[in-house]
Order: sequence, then C-alpha cells, then structure tokens
Amino acid sequence: MEQPVTPFAPRAASSLATDPLRSCTSEPCATALPLCSISADSAIAAATGIGELDRVLGGGLVAGSVTVLGGEPGVGKSTLVLQALASLASKGRTSMLIAAEESGEQVRRRAERLGTAVDGCYVLATTDLDAVIFAAGRLEPSVLVVDSIQAVSDSACGSQAGSPSQVRECASRLVRHAKSLGVATLLVGHVTKDGALAGPRTLEHIVDTVLSFDGDRHQALRLLSASKHRYGPTGELGLFEMTETGLRGLVDPSALLLGDRRHGVPGSIAVPVLEGRRPLIIEVQGLVGPQTSAAPRRVAQGVVAGRLALLLAVLERRCHVALAGSDVFVSTVGGLRVSEPAADLGIALALVSAVTGIPVGREVVACGEVGLAGELRRVQATERRLAEAARLGFRRAVVPQSAPEGPMELELLRAGTLLEAVRLLFGVVPAARSRPRTEIGGGPELSDGRDVRTLVRTPPSLVS
Ligand code: TYD
Ligand code: MG
Repeated sequence: MEQPVTPFAPRAASSLATDPLRSCTSEPCATALPLCSISADSAIAAATGIGELDRVLGGGLVAGSVTVLGGEPGVGKSTLVLQALASLASKGRTSMLIAAEESGEQVRRRAERLGTAVDGCYVLATTDLDAVIFAAGRLEPSVLVVDSIQAVSDSACGSQAGSPSQVRECASRLVRHAKSLGVATLLVGHVTKDGALAGPRTLEHIVDTVLSFDGDRHQALRLLSASKHRYGPTGELGLFEMTETGLRGLVDPSALLLGDRRHGVPGSIAVPVLEGRRPLIIEVQGLVGPQTSAAPRRVAQGVVAGRLALLLAVLERRCHVALAGSDVFVSTVGGLRVSEPAADLGIALALVSAVTGIPVGREVVACGEVGLAGELRRVQATERRLAEAARLGFRRAVVPQSAPEGPMELELLRAGTLLEAVRLLFGVVPAARSRPRTEIGGGPELSDGRDVRTLVRTPPSLVS
C-alpha cells in the first residue's frame, strides 16, 4: 500500500527566511493521497425515480451535492421537487422539505392532488435558516429541499430575505451543511424577468449544479435543462407535461408538439430543433396581414425578435418578398423558445407560405441558418435532426447545399440560398419590386416590378 505523500516537508531555517511559501511550510499543511486510494463511490448518483429529472442529472442526485432549480413563478418547481421527494421516500430514502413559502397544509394538499405517497417525507414550514440547519442535522435526511432559497434568511446576516447578501449567506451555509453531512441538497430559486437566477451571480458558482425549469405557464410543456453540472454532462433535456395530477415525463414529446397541427393551412412548417442534445420537431407558424397601425407590427413568440427582423430584411432584399408594409406574426407551437439559427430557414419559409397562401406539405421539414447574403448555412447535428424527422414520418427536408446525407427515407431538397429554397418548395421565382437595381443588390432574379404575391399562383408538387 502506498504511503500518503506530504507535499511540504519542513525546510531548513535558512531557506525559510527567503521562501515566499514560508507561512505554510513550518508544518506540513496538507496530505495528498494516491488517486487510486480515493473512493469514487460518494459521487455515484442515486436515481430520484423521476426519469426526466434523472436524465438531466446524469443519473440522479449525488450525496453532498447542491443543486439549484431555477424557474419562473408558476412553472412547476414546487410540484417537481415534491414529486421527486415522494419518489425518493417511496424507495426508503428519508427526504425533508423546507416549505419557506407555503404552510405544511398547503404542501399536504398538493401531495394529495398529486396522489403521491408521503411516508418518509418530512416537512418543516419555516423561513429561519438556523431552524433548517438544526432540523436537518437532527433528522439527517438523504435529500433536503429548500423551497425557496430567496425565502429563507439567516438572522445573523441582517439584511432582508431574498437580498443578494442573504441569498449568498444562506446558500453558503447550506453548501457547508450538505458537504459535511453528505446530504444531497436542492435549492429552489426564482428567476428574474430576463431568466437569470434572482440573487447574487455568485450563487451559480457556489453550487454544484444549476437546473432551469422553463415553459409557458399557459401551455402544458415544461423543459428541464442544466446550465452547470459538476457531476455530469449539461447537454441533456428533460421534458414534462403539466397535467391535473402533476408533472408527467414525456419520453416522446412529438404528440404534444405536433398533435394539434392542421394540414393544408398556409404559414405552418415543421422544424427540427436541438434542445440540449435532444432533437425535437416543432411547428413554426407565420401570419402576415395588412398593416393595422402607424408602424407595422412584428410579433415574435418563442422566436428571438432580432432574428425575425434579420429574416424579414433578407426576405425583402434577397428574395423580394415585400413585408415592410405588413404586420408579421411568428410563433412556435407548444410554448417552446427557439434561439438557435437552425430555425431560420423554417421561419422564413413559414412567412413565404403565409404571404403566398400556399401551404407547405405535411411531410416537409426545413432546417438551416440564413446568412445576410441570403445564403443557407449548414447547422450542427443536422444528421440527428434529420433522423428524428424521418423517425416521425417526415419524407422531405429542405436543407443547405452543404448539408450531410440524411436517412434513406428522407428526400433532401438542397438549396444554396433562401431564394432557391423558396423556388424548390413553392415552385416560383419571386421577382423584385420596381426599385433601382443598386438598391436591391443585383442578381439574375431581377425584374419586372411584381412581388411574390402576384407571382405565386400554381401550387407545385411539394405543397399539399
Ligand atoms: P408550482 O409547482 O406551485 O409552481 P412554482 O413552484 O414554480 O411556482 O405549480 C404552479 C402551477 O402548476 C399552478 O398554476 C397549478 C399548476 N399545477 C397543475 O396544473 N397540476 C398540478 O398537479 C399541480 C400540483 C399544479
Ligand atoms: Mg413554488
């Protein structure tokens, strides 16, 4: 058996006099261990039994780890943690919930609504951090949840609950407690309007894992992802449906995302997006109407507004689709927020479909980034996106020229530019409006003064 190595052996007095490390060299101050002698067992994740949560955590909760679960009010954080605690308790693990925003009765009522077993699940309704530490030290649960970190306070800190210094102090004490007793600790945290965790930014550095729980409160879909994870990967995505009886994991979310899609309606297209490492096919909708107020309206729901503005400019200048005097609405269905440029092509084609009145075929997906020159760019993980589209029964995909081969069942419609993609899908060549050639930018499609609305009449083979 190898002996521990002491890195700082005592030195001679003469060398200590000039050694910048002398303050810690008079005595051995640390003992390094051979890596092979250190147990890795303590970092093994224990499954919570909530499949989608375990997927994001890379297996489950690790003893002594501290996780923040952030999300907007009403998204379902308290529901998720209660389901997780009940599931853990049902496996014989003692769990403890600190209800700092609700009474014990409210928690019990929620548990009854969820139909969860409550044996082995302890609740303490308090906002006093000393009481939390004392009770957790006495019960020694394997999992401790504090709901929420903004609602508890340390009397020694002086400032108000929820203030940056309180949140930092309470989180630091809970981290020390978690590490010393080996309690897996989950801190529920509120987020600010821009989606950041409320409180000091240092909170994210103090803890081991930061989870975000997202979704539109008016929709059933909920997304769980990790932005930081010391015990596993951060690319996983967990999907839930909020039901009358709590959160239900969605192994195959397509039914929820595409279930209500109506076919033969202009302005709708299916787009494969990547959430974490998971490809999802979502519906993107566009609607174009006459301008109804002094300035044309641009409404982007689930799509970054700046991205929509860029696509409108490219449609206008490179494809001659005139939308400057129209109200434009774009929406992702299901409450999903899409920020990746891979959805550019789908959004642009949905708008062309809306403006021309020609529906996109139900078996068509589109994915690709649109550049300012109107060129289509390949996006990351195209193969995985196309494989998912094929799995769900889609048969044609509009992709950039440089896209890799897709699955056998999928016919690829390759286009170098957005204009070519419009031509491929709708069977038309939009013509420029009558403007000076220099202003439009030149190109073979230049023209006779008509815009796409006057040109498109005959639905080609690809449209339903
Ligand atoms: P909650 O978990 O309290 O959200 P948070 O802690 O993030 O504020 O959930 C709030 C919403 O979820 C509330 O509007 C009611 C709804 N809900 C359901 O639809 N089904 C359920 O079974 C539960 C418990 C809540
Ligand atoms: Mg809550």
